[in-house]
Amino acid sequence: MASQIILLLRLFSFLAFSSTISSYNILDFGAKKGGNVDCVEAVIRAWKMACNSLSSTANIYVPNGIFLISGVRFNGPCVNKKINFTINGTLMAPSGYTDSSEWITFDTVEGISINGGVFDGRGSELWDCKLRNEKCPRGATSLEFTNSKDIEIRRLTSIDSELFHIVIHRCDNVNLVGPKRSPNTDGIHVQMSTNVYIRNTRIKTGDDCISIGPGTSALWIERVICGPGHGISIGSLGKDEGLKEGGVQNVTVQIIEFVGSENGLRIKTWGSNVEGYVRGIIFKHVVMNNVMNPIIIDQNYCPHNQNCPHKDSGIQISDVEYKNIEGTSASPIAIKLDCSPTNPCKGLGMSNIKLTYKERPAKSFCKYASGHSSGLMIPPSCL
Ligand SMILES: *[C@@H]1O[C@H](CO)[C@@H](O)[C@H](O)[C@H]1NC(C)=O
Ligand SMILES: *[C@@H]1O[C@H](CO)[C@@H](O)[C@H](O)[C@H]1NC(C)=O
Ligand SMILES: *[C@@H]1O[C@H](CO)[C@@H](O)[C@H](O)[C@H]1NC(C)=O
Repeated sequence: MASQIILLLRLFSFLAFSSTISSYNILDFGAKKGGNVDCVEAVIRAWKMACNSLSSTANIYVPNGIFLISGVRFNGPCVNKKINFTINGTLMAPSGYTDSSEWITFDTVEGISINGGVFDGRGSELWDCKLRNEKCPRGATSLEFTNSKDIEIRRLTSIDSELFHIVIHRCDNVNLVGPKRSPNTDGIHVQMSTNVYIRNTRIKTGDDCISIGPGTSALWIERVICGPGHGISIGSLGKDEGLKEGGVQNVTVQIIEFVGSENGLRIKTWGSNVEGYVRGIIFKHVVMNNVMNPIIIDQNYCPHNQNCPHKDSGIQISDVEYKNIEGTSASPIAIKLDCSPTNPCKGLGMSNIKLTYKERPAKSFCKYASGHSSGLMIPPSCL
């Protein structure tokens, strides 16, 4: 009997709330425009309402204007599985910097879409500290999703982030569709995640436009313009000796333009004994404009030559396809494949490549790399 009543109640609540929308405007929860008043409490209150809402869609609305947010973690799990976070204004970080590694984080959430908005991380004071070579914190990620699934991020603009703009960590099914032409939308890092789609975005940054960390599979990157920045990088992998690391597999990167970036398509692993793999990677339809290292595999990665492990990389790179890649290199060597002596790269494929340096064919360099090439090959293949 009791269970029947519960069933009836469930049915009733299902019918009653089956197509309702509830809306939460942060102004109604005490948020103030102008950037002088911290709006954290207000957004958390709005979040709690949306998160616990039984309606079919819960809208959180940030109207236009500037809202100061000192740092916030939106925690799930939520009752509501369709939270629509629409941001018409700017979320602004406080001035200065702290030791925190995150600014706005969503943890253990499911079925969230973020639409629009400007995230202003106000990183310049921290960058100045780093330029002065003082002891400064590492910086905060502007927007992070962790342990989450079914996430959509649309037309978001992130400026002046202290560190990463967007980090996707331990997530499944993430759709990131950027603004076609927004200035300073940058630095996306994906790791330990599956089924992530990044499309239509313009990235300018001081570091990697997109970096792909350990444990990533089924990643699709399409229609991205990158530069200035350090390119699209798989890795770095194998940094922490003694730690087990997930491999990277099934990554497609296509219809990409690099503009004056330091690297184009890069795979980088430390020369350490960490074991792992990179496999099943496709890079195709890529245009390089004055890129320092258009195609590079570097298995002795060690920035600034500090604390280099000086070992042969234990990361096995295989089945990487480069197809229809053309444009200009800013250095004589446009293709550099520098692999591990103990785990040579295998199954690399190149076809229809045309990369020039000062209007002459560029050069290619291979070390411990094997595979096949076909079609037009400028520079000639060294595989
Ligand atoms: C967003 O803000 C603009 C002004 O910046 C305003 O014209 C527009 O109506 C707002 N959109 C919504 C959905 O409120
Ligand atoms: C989310 O909100 C935006 C703007 O308010 C609206 O255009 C969109 O349809 C909403 N999505 C859903 C699923 O309700
Ligand atoms: C590879 O990734 C794509 C999405 O990027 C996915 O649709 C496909 O199922 C994946 N294939 C395998 C074998 O994992």
